[in-house]
Amino acid sequence: MDTELLADALRALGDSLRYYRDMGLTDLALSPAYLASPADQLRTQEELLQGCLRCKLCEGRTTIVFGSGRAAADLVVIGEGPGAEEDQQGKPFVGRAGQLLTKMLESVKFDRAEDVYILNVVKCRPPGNRNPEPDEIEACGQFLAAQLATIQPKVILALGSVATQALLKTKEPIGKLRGRVHPYGAALLVPTFHPAFLLRNPGQEYKRMAWEDLKLARREYDRLRER
Ligand code: URA
Repeated sequence: MDTELLADALRALGDSLRYYRDMGLTDLALSPAYLASPADQLRTQEELLQGCLRCKLCEGRTTIVFGSGRAAADLVVIGEGPGAEEDQQGKPFVGRAGQLLTKMLESVKFDRAEDVYILNVVKCRPPGNRNPEPDEIEACGQFLAAQLATIQPKVILALGSVATQALLKTKEPIGKLRGRVHPYGAALLVPTFHPAFLLRNPGQEYKRMAWEDLKLARREYDRLRER
């Protein structure tokens, strides 16, 4: 092998391993085979998740909602868990909140299918749309870590308090966490309000704050991609 090719391969391996470590990925069965394409790695992880019985959410789910979008996206959007519509269709954010999310992304010129990968901290629907519980988030944690280690996003947009608190391992309310970036491994995490919350609270004030967060995510995304 040409020495330059070998150096490139070793650099890529080093980058991947650093990402696995930063994302807390310890389950070696889920460690992405770094020579496979990101899309193939995600496919393998999704296959490994089928029939999952790791937590009680398996009892009520119809479909495991793994995630969707561009496998090598520089922006990853993370919600809390599938709702009724997502549980039926097997895709994240396809209900009313999902339609608003698509518009929010478009408002800062992100194309949902082209530029973004969308996933949730838990992959099965919590009954009655309750918040996922800590043991359920923990049980899904290695899959989330594996997804992020594969995609290696530059920016993560975290939707709502459940996702943001789970990712940042904090109990601070979303109102205190949003409006700024938080380091998250090699990525930057931008918290904002969950679109379902914005639908329930249609006041201008929350909309304006979410708009500021989206513009912040867009700025960081552009800045990091220029480097
Ligand atoms: N809410 C979420 O957090 N995720 C979805 O996929 C849908 C609604």
